[in-house]
Amino acid sequence: LLGSKSRQDLAGVRVLVTAGPTHEAIDPVRYIANESSGKMGYSIARAARLRGAEVTLVSGPTSLRPPAGVEVVDVVSASDLHRAATELFEVADVAILAAAVADYTPAAPADHKLKKARERLDRIELVETEDVLRELSAGRGRRVVVGFAAETEDVVENAEEKLRHKGCDLIVANKVGGADSAFGSDTDEVALVSAAGAERLPRLEKAQVADVLLDRVRRILDERAG
Ligand code: CTP
Ligand code: CA
Repeated sequence: LLGSKSRQDLAGVRVLVTAGPTHEAIDPVRYIANESSGKMGYSIARAARLRGAEVTLVSGPTSLRPPAGVEVVDVVSASDLHRAATELFEVADVAILAAAVADYTPAAPADHKLKKARERLDRIELVETEDVLRELSAGRGRRVVVGFAAETEDVVENAEEKLRHKGCDLIVANKVGGADSAFGSDTDEVALVSAAGAERLPRLEKAQVADVLLDRVRRILDERAG
């Protein structure tokens, strides 16, 4: 079946994708995490591979099957994800950071299961995690860096602010929470926000969102080469 996406327009392009949540250990059985199924990041990895890219997927804990032909690096914590992504970025042309990285992690995770009857579980000291998107964007050079923003309100305004703060090339913004939440869904209604402005896409399958996003990435690569 040769659809339009059988074109190998990303052949030779090395794409790093992050996906899923991270788990920040409180003790061996408890953790802090963000809501994320990983479906969007996995769809992007699969779509990029189908278009000929060499894809590495840094994945937090999900229940998804790895896409065929994609190298998967499994991570658990934000610190693991930061380490893996930083190393792989060195040999990437494009980084698409779709992971829902925890913003804070317990300062001193316990090495044994905390017992609520006799140990403090109602206060956990947290420290901020490293901002992978911001760091990679700052050192990107000619590489293309794409971030995501899941917002419950003022989606485009928040994404424009995030684009400036993170310094990336593009933000994929979507609305979460409420009836039309993207979480766990196979469809998504997003806006692509860049310095040139915001483009709102209709509700699409995540595979289609991935292809529109990769069209944009292809264009940015062409502009930088030309
Ligand atoms: N991100 C990251 N490293 C972090 C936190 C976020 O790389 N420690 C990336 C995410 O993968 C995503 C983007 O930054 O591509 C935006 O994440 P988001 O949580 O929306 O932004 P924050 O800057 O963490 O702001 P907030 O959660 O307060 O909205
Ligand atoms: Ca965050």
